[in-house]
Amino acid sequence: DGSYNGDVPTSLDEVAAAVQVCRRCDLWRDATQGVAGEGAAHAPLMFVGEQPGDQEDLAGRPFVGPAGQVFNQALEEAGVPRDRTFITNAVKHFKHEPRGKRRIHKTPDRGEVQACRWWLDAERRLVRPRVIVALGATAAHAVMGKATPIAANRGRPLQLPDQGQAVVTYHPSFLLRLPDADARERARAEFVEDLRLAGELAR
Ligand code: URA
Repeated sequence: DGSYNGDVPTSLDEVAAAVQVCRRCDLWRDATQGVAGEGAAHAPLMFVGEQPGDQEDLAGRPFVGPAGQVFNQALEEAGVPRDRTFITNAVKHFKHEPRGKRRIHKTPDRGEVQACRWWLDAERRLVRPRVIVALGATAAHAVMGKATPIAANRGRPLQLPDQGQAVVTYHPSFLLRLPDADARERARAEFVEDLRLAGELAR
């Protein structure tokens, strides 16, 4: 029924229900709904994005908009089956500002990412993935627990402080925004390489 007493959630369904009534930061006020992670309950591979975008906010599901299409295509090219993955975000509500009729994405601040770690950590404990892939700098910081620049750290396995391995890579929206076609193609190839590496580590 969506009620949540504040205890540590003991199932992914409980996380999804509790995120709907979360008041750990103020982002719920302007969002349509919370967007919890989804995927295989004990997926060996977890992907962490930044936060839901416009379409994710409306659909209530992660990575269903333009970034999701880039991501899906890259997963397929990397040979990573969707049913071995769990896909979530560092922040569960859409942070945005109005521009005309559109809602423009705003990067969540440190406090919001920190507040939402409660849910990311709960999902990590419940799914227990062998490998976590952080998509972009916000996710990399949340997953690694410290600033972890993508360019200097992508392309190789990183050790997580608790257990398991991590791979940090570009955010799919970053690929969409690169103005130069050659640079975009290069970065996209590196993105696919990183997903393939993560898939191999998780096997
Ligand atoms: N970008 C993200 O980081 N996450 C989503 O779910 C969608 C777009």
